[in-house]
Amino acid sequence: RELEKFVDELPDMPRLRGYAVTGGGALVAGNLTIGMYDTTWKFHRDLPATRVFAYGTSKETATVPGPTIEAMRGVPTHVTWANHLPSSHPFLPWDDSLTTADPPRGGVPTVVHLHGGVQHSSSDGHSLAWFTSGLAATGPRFSPPPYTYPNRQPPGNLWYHDHAMGLTRVNILAGLMGAYRVASPAEEAPLNLPAGEALDRNLVLFDRDFRADGALYVNRTGNNPGVHPHWQPEYFGAAVVVNGKAWPYLRVRRRRYRFRILNASNARFFRLKLSAAGPGAGLRFVHVASDSVYLARPVPTRAFLLAPSEIADVVVDFAESAAGAAVLTDDAPAPYPGDPGDRAETVAVMKFLIEDDDDAEPDTSSVPAALMPHYPRPDAREAAATRRVTMYEYTRNGTDEPTHLYLNARSYMDPVTETPREGTSEVWDVINLTDDNHPLHVHLALFAVLGQRSLRRVDEFRDCMKRRNDADACGLDRHLAGGRRHVVPRQERGWKNVFKMRPSAVTRILVRFKPLSPDEESCFPFDVTTGPGYVYHCHIFEHEDNEMMRPMKIVR
Ligand code: C2O
Ligand code: CU
Repeated sequence: RELEKFVDELPDMPRLRGYAVTGGGALVAGNLTIGMYDTTWKFHRDLPATRVFAYGTSKETATVPGPTIEAMRGVPTHVTWANHLPSSHPFLPWDDSLTTADPPRGGVPTVVHLHGGVQHSSSDGHSLAWFTSGLAATGPRFSPPPYTYPNRQPPGNLWYHDHAMGLTRVNILAGLMGAYRVASPAEEAPLNLPAGEALDRNLVLFDRDFRADGALYVNRTGNNPGVHPHWQPEYFGAAVVVNGKAWPYLRVRRRRYRFRILNASNARFFRLKLSAAGPGAGLRFVHVASDSVYLARPVPTRAFLLAPSEIADVVVDFAESAAGAAVLTDDAPAPYPGDPGDRAETVAVMKFLIEDDDDAEPDTSSVPAALMPHYPRPDAREAAATRRVTMYEYTRNGTDEPTHLYLNARSYMDPVTETPREGTSEVWDVINLTDDNHPLHVHLALFAVLGQRSLRRVDEFRDCMKRRNDADACGLDRHLAGGRRHVVPRQERGWKNVFKMRPSAVTRILVRFKPLSPDEESCFPFDVTTGPGYVYHCHIFEHEDNEMMRPMKIVR
């Protein structure tokens, strides 16, 4: 039975302040305790409650997605992440044949990463820093709570999510994710963007499949079960969920709104568009930030692509349409093949009911011509080193079905090879020899996309690389010569922490291992060289869980 669309109102997740206010009005560090609970969540009016794992300050108030944490720039937030998950077997298919957190006496291993956060590695949610309920078992890189987020980074959009070794895909599928904002009123108020809880909303998107009894549906049989009994290379669901409701609606007025749109799917890319029926229908998105950083200048689009874990921060002016409603739609193919020309059937994401209210106060918000133009611009000439990151997919058992994905032909547990120096930038050439588009994410650092170019005669190059893993010896330059250049969308030319690595192409990024600030500080406000270290990985969770992740050690 098909679920009816647009019957649930879009919820706003509970908001938690990441700071405290003294009697005198000063802002001081905040202390939060956020638990992970085995509970249920209603994803749709007509669907029975679904068993989920949810973040919240109590089991009764836990939500999917979890509460939105509102941090203040320069004011630290301490969070004690507390695992209250069961000791019995989980309800989603875990696969012991992967490199997986493996507590000796059961329990559900979890660890929380603040994505986009600039924090010491002991608070970064390293995959091997996992822990089970009551800290009964802990991973080899465990750091005791609380985690400290200094929030000494530019204002922007972050999110927190599970990062446990080999279990990220199932823990997040179960519901362990939430939004996190770093606000800086002194810098943001002058922009005069739509503000306040009603006008400035987080939209957390993901896809899920449900059974008639409300349970999450996941194919439990691996694609290559002789090697991995349960692992599938990508999870896709037919229902599009926004803030925990399948195909919700939101009543809006004919004025500007701000939407911070996060793709929290395991593997689905969204190509988002606003379609409104009737004359003067065209609604646009005006991008003001991408991932965790404001753009220098706003960028209008009619449609844009959002890979897993990318964040688009947009302003929509519903006064641009005379229509009474607009539907946010998606037409990206799944899996996403990489050619932006490819389209799938258009499906609904959510609906906006546009209401006229003559008594409402006029819209005094605006989108200024300049947002944050003072951040340093990417300059490849300052790179202290050049690295290559090659993406490989492998198969075993004599079938074509993939069994694991490696970066630079190494497994996650192989010794660290990426050792960037604090205070420098590096050029990374990401060579994607697979058939999939992989959203690459780097912890701690920000990067700018310098260009993307297709490889010619890629089969020959891939065969050579699989034998030798040496791009020079395999003639990288020769295979790049004359290769098609791909345009980086204008709204993605700022500083980002995730970007889409097109298949059979080389994507060149400039990665900054120093804070983003107008005065070009070169050192982070904590010791980046100590602790369990950082990682970089593909942000398709099935890939991250199956070796498409590597450690990264920052040196001085
Ligand atoms: Cu959003 Cu290492 O992850
Ligand atoms: Cu991937």
